[in-house]
Amino acid sequence: MTASSRIQLAAKGPTFSRTIPGLMRLNQWGMTSTQLADWIQGCLDMGVTTFDHADIYGGYTCEGLFGEALAERPSLRNQIEIVTKCGIQLATADSPKLYDTSAAYIIAHAENSLRLFHTDHIDLLLIHRPDPLMDAAEVAGAFSQLRQAGKVLHFGVSNFMPFQFDLLESMLDFPLVTNQLEISPLHMDALHDGTLDGCQQRHIAPMAWSPLGGGRLFNGEDQQAKRVRHTLGEVGAALGGAALDQVALAWVMAHPSRPLPVLGTGKLERVRAAVEAESLQLTRSQWFAIWEASAGRRVP
Ligand SMILES: NC(=O)c1ccc[n+]([C@@H]2O[C@H](COP(=O)([O-])OP(=O)(O)OC[C@H]3O[C@@H](n4cnc5c(N)ncnc54)[C@H](OP(=O)(O)O)[C@@H]3O)[C@@H](O)[C@H]2O)c1
Repeated sequence: MTASSRIQLAAKGPTFSRTIPGLMRLNQWGMTSTQLADWIQGCLDMGVTTFDHADIYGGYTCEGLFGEALAERPSLRNQIEIVTKCGIQLATADSPKLYDTSAAYIIAHAENSLRLFHTDHIDLLLIHRPDPLMDAAEVAGAFSQLRQAGKVLHFGVSNFMPFQFDLLESMLDFPLVTNQLEISPLHMDALHDGTLDGCQQRHIAPMAWSPLGGGRLFNGEDQQAKRVRHTLGEVGAALGGAALDQVALAWVMAHPSRPLPVLGTGKLERVRAAVEAESLQLTRSQWFAIWEASAGRRVP
């Protein structure tokens, strides 16, 4: 049976499954904790061991739902790696949505994640978005404290530009292991704004969020989505019948920085299709045909 491959994110980083389910939409899946535990086991059966969360997903509910499944079947915990994020605070009656990367906020949210997951450690903690008020030394202090206490094993960032990554890393005496970025045939910024170059330069594998455009790849009625869908279909046919999602994922994974796709589906057959896509090889010509369909122009 096809199994997800393993990738070490960085020289001193963790090893994850190439295919990573993200739990942002978990509160919409309508699963009981038993069904979710079965779903996690179904992922494990395909070698998919890494799960992506954030404190805010589902209006702060998704981590707790996942944790209930782990509490119901505790043997799952040591077979999986948990990634989570903090640093965004959702709007309340008294406050707009904001970013908070103060040490107190990071530590309180990491500890709350531990409690919700019913675990004593998080495998990887990310700062969710660059915070214009980020005091890098303070974030580094919070990371070091969590690391020394064994509460978080590895640290990284999400949606950071290379200079923001370097700023934070320069304050740490251990390396950041990833930058989680939006990468899909419908969102190519990271290919051209230096962030993926920065990952290669630092020898870290990025995690690619919304690799299927959050579903727009399948149902988008805008011209870009239509063009990309058409070309993915053509490439899939040339590859002997690969599905749209598989060609899109192969396109993302073809980048030399070795992105790990973070999927949003709750359907095991779609996770399986993603695992199968790990072995799909696009030609350079196919890769650029998809680039051209996305950009709506030829390469200069
Ligand atoms: N770091 C960040 O800032 C950030 C931001 C956003 C998301 N994320 C992470 O990335 C993960 C994935 O994000 P995403 O949900 O936007 O990813 P996505 O995989 O691009 O999109 C998922 C959506 O596509 C649909 N879909 C998947 N395969 C399909 C198919 N073959 N046919 C039709 N529809 C299909 C899914 O529906 P079904 O459920 O029906 O399969 C779901 O609604 C999140 O869970 C989260 O962990 C991170």
